[in-house]
Amino acid sequence: MSTPRIDGELKVRGLAPFAYEQRTERPLYLFPVLSRIAAGRVAALDTAAAEAAPGVFAVLTHANAPKLASTDNLELAVLQSADIGFRGQIIGAVLAETPEEARYAAGLVGHSYDESAHDARFRVDHPDAYTPEGVNGGQQADVSKGDVDAALASARTAVDHVYTTPIEHNNPMEPHTAVAQWDGRTLTLFDSTQGVHPARSVLAPLFGLEPDRMHVISPYVGGGFGSKGTPHAGEALTALAAFAADGRPVKYALTRQQMFPLAGYREPTHQHIRLAADPGGRLTAVSVDVTEPTSKIKEFAEQAGVPARTMYAAPNIRSTHRLVPLDVPVASWFRAPGECPGMFGLETAMDDLAAAAGIDPIELRRRNDTDVDPMSGKPFSARHLVECLDTGAERFGWERRRPEPGSRREGDWLIGLGVASSTYPFVRIPGSVARVRYRADGRYEVGIGAAELGTGTWTSLTQIAAEALGCPKESVMLAIGDTDEPNATIAGGSSGTASWGGAIIAAADEFREKFGERPEPDDEVRAESPTVTDAENFSLHSFGAQFAEVRVNSRTGEVRVDRLLGVFSVGRVINARTARSQFIGGMTMGLGMALHEESVMDPRFGHVVNHDLAGYHVPACADVHDIDAIWLDERDEHAGKLGARGIGEIGITGTAAAIANAAYNATGVRVRDLPLTLDKFL
Ligand code: MOS
Repeated sequence: MSTPRIDGELKVRGLAPFAYEQRTERPLYLFPVLSRIAAGRVAALDTAAAEAAPGVFAVLTHANAPKLASTDNLELAVLQSADIGFRGQIIGAVLAETPEEARYAAGLVGHSYDESAHDARFRVDHPDAYTPEGVNGGQQADVSKGDVDAALASARTAVDHVYTTPIEHNNPMEPHTAVAQWDGRTLTLFDSTQGVHPARSVLAPLFGLEPDRMHVISPYVGGGFGSKGTPHAGEALTALAAFAADGRPVKYALTRQQMFPLAGYREPTHQHIRLAADPGGRLTAVSVDVTEPTSKIKEFAEQAGVPARTMYAAPNIRSTHRLVPLDVPVASWFRAPGECPGMFGLETAMDDLAAAAGIDPIELRRRNDTDVDPMSGKPFSARHLVECLDTGAERFGWERRRPEPGSRREGDWLIGLGVASSTYPFVRIPGSVARVRYRADGRYEVGIGAAELGTGTWTSLTQIAAEALGCPKESVMLAIGDTDEPNATIAGGSSGTASWGGAIIAAADEFREKFGERPEPDDEVRAESPTVTDAENFSLHSFGAQFAEVRVNSRTGEVRVDRLLGVFSVGRVINARTARSQFIGGMTMGLGMALHEESVMDPRFGHVVNHDLAGYHVPACADVHDIDAIWLDERDEHAGKLGARGIGEIGITGTAAAIANAAYNATGVRVRDLPLTLDKFL
């Protein structure tokens, strides 16, 4: 089905309220004061001038802010001590009658510090590098099978290179916003979040509140990409300030610049990749050693070494992760954490191997295909990687690719074609619950705390409910984005639709079983999403193939992506229209990763210097030419009754490698360090 968004008209008419737009009575506006040093302590903040400024209600610092019940999470423990862990950390906040007055007064606060030496310079040979207990996603930091070293030593064909990705910052169009109000019993939070219940489960304990005393509301979100997957300091500060606001609502929207230190980011990755193959190109060893920085105040280990554990058959596989602790802001999720940077390294290395072995890159991947997960030995529930590659090759015109790099020229432009694989695991987080209630007007209320990030949740969950209830979608009244609805898991890990849809199907099935086809008004059931038992016996992963045609100007080094095609195997697709939008959105983000995105850390001060959309470049419409996504017609019987494995993140995995590989085919210049800026081709 290709149902248009049911919330489309509301959004176009400005009637879909985002967090900051929710109507409130007599709000106070918040503006933070941020640390200007990267390590040390606040000696004193002179707040007298700010307090005397027009419209100022209060100036909060660690000296007078309300106390939190828990300060274990140092990212969220705002204004609880004088300690400073990174430049840009919140050390104060002004509450005022207007946003302008709050911002102006924040600038009047005098700062003085006891500064300590800081270290914000990422280097792989850092003496403090350590192995984390595990990496994001719950995987082990280091895994190994077989004898990788022996296989590497005896290999006839080998690749041994370092691939790097820079710091990348999520820049959803809607910045991180929150509106908080404390009425003496309940803390109400309008939040821009990827999950109202997950946000509450983090924030309520911070304030010592039982869950029923915190109400989180978030019906519409303007993009998240992981950065709104868990509350950050801005939400904690807004909620904290509500306790000092005499019951008035407190509103805060991070500025674009404040998003850089305060809303998470993708850590840079350094990936030492070694591949060994027999003369036929069959991998005999895969070795990936990842090193990344992490904030000293809160660890985050991007699992960039993880996809190499799944992608290709090899008797010997090893992947490891090391972290370098620095005085830098706290990193977090960024669309397809781990898989995305990891697939840049691995899939560029596969292109290096194809060139070294003299084998077509698609043929190389075919020869290394596998029906079983190479690390666990479990069969894949469905692995259609080769089908995706073959389908894409035909559609894209792969036979026109000239194997010899630099051999196709049109005027000043060198043209090349490249390919890369994509992957993303099927994640289904247990615990989502849905309710179905029949109404006197013959319609069904379907409630679940799910999130709409612009991804199409309102539409796809309505479709799923209508199908499960056997009624037209006009008879479904969906309610999402509110902790008053039953528990929903995060819109993250590409797990939302499958997890929430599983709960809705379970509730609808139970409703029909209990009340038959002639329910009475107010008949209601609640049901939890069933666990996917097949997950124990199968490896559940989505796969895909990405194709790029790239032009590189031989005089200027300018790179243009003329065509992008993604072919995906994701199980069932619920809504073709919103799914395509997700795929090409992910691919566009991958294009940004390939060509533009790079946060530049100045280690002298510990901050990102290009902290706005003038300096941090994301693709504009003019950068995106012919882009398309298609998918195999399938339903994964092992992925639960819905048969869907998720589509949110696979679109970004592999895109940057396909573009880098196409640029190599165009020029013969291999760029292993993203982004592909023009200087690297000259
Ligand atoms: Mo995604 S980074 O799990 O929102």
